[in-house]
Amino acid sequence: MSGESGDDANPQEPRAWSGVRSGPLRAGEWVRITDPKNRRHHIQLEKGAQFFTHRGAIEHDDILGSPEGIVVTSAGGVEYLVFRPLLHEYVVSMPRGAAVVYPKDAAQIVAMADVFPGARVVEAGAGSGSLTCALIRAVGPHGSVSSYERRRDFADIARANVEKFFGGSPPMWSLTVGDVQDDLHGREVDRVVLDMLAPWECVEAVGSALVPGGLVCAYVATTPQLSRLVETLRTHGEFTEPDAWETLVRPWHVEGLAVRPSHKMNGHTGFLVTARRMAHGVRPPGRKRRPAPGAYGADYAGPRPATESERDPESTG
Ligand SMILES: C[S@@+](CC[C@H](N)C(=O)[O-])C[C@H]1O[C@@H](n2cnc3c(N)ncnc32)[C@H](O)[C@@H]1O
Repeated sequence: MSGESGDDANPQEPRAWSGVRSGPLRAGEWVRITDPKNRRHHIQLEKGAQFFTHRGAIEHDDILGSPEGIVVTSAGGVEYLVFRPLLHEYVVSMPRGAAVVYPKDAAQIVAMADVFPGARVVEAGAGSGSLTCALIRAVGPHGSVSSYERRRDFADIARANVEKFFGGSPPMWSLTVGDVQDDLHGREVDRVVLDMLAPWECVEAVGSALVPGGLVCAYVATTPQLSRLVETLRTHGEFTEPDAWETLVRPWHVEGLAVRPSHKMNGHTGFLVTARRMAHGVRPPGRKRRPAPGAYGADYAGPRPATESERDPESTG
């Protein structure tokens, strides 16, 4: 987390707009201090300032000019680790409007949506800007991330969080207050990443903006959302069969002979869905496996994929 724009903002620098800084800790930078009970605070360094803990003050001057990875001691004798925060540490501690995409899901999105350096990515909604940070990093200085957020108050939070992490507004990033659907027609993009309540409402617009071979990735919190999105993608007809999954991360406790899963775990964040855009006017071949009996029965009320005979009236004679 930069805290001020600096030499890493030069696009020729290998670390340009990565949000990563190195060298001695300077005034204006943010650091993360961690006590022996793993309680963490983020503080912005300022010459002559103090940070007050429940066990006495920490002098910023004891940190300024030092490398990362030092230990400072509060006036009450408690030792604190000092590091610059990593991106995944930053996003779970930054101010929030909307719920954020957690790092385990952001990592999946970057990998499974194949967000590559130079990619043109559209993202909605920006929410608190957590996923935005991961996308900006992944596309790098030669890509673009166009973020959309319907709520101005959330957009303001996203902007503040992104700018704080990168030390300024990354030139490859734009943030628009408005509905993503209004801006997609007529565009050409490689990836669309949706984190919103009703991503199925955007499928038509996403289909018009994605280049052939482009990919849509959506993050949804509940199974009704998952179902409706997947069926809408099928109904569109020019996306590949969607993939849907979730990831569970189970931390482990490792100490001597006590090696076991942690007692605590984040049981649910969300589901991910990806599908690729076919060339315009081209439908994927019909699915080999028939839907389970009753899957689209009388009590199914969602969007229905076309049947084989609707897609190809000559196939059934
Ligand atoms: C869960 S939050 C996104 C969190 C964000 N991905 C993050 O990691 O911080 C969902 C956001 O989508 C916004 N939203 C919903 N539908 C939208 C649309 N059609 N266009 C733009 N923003 C939308 C909402 O206002 C809300 O802030």
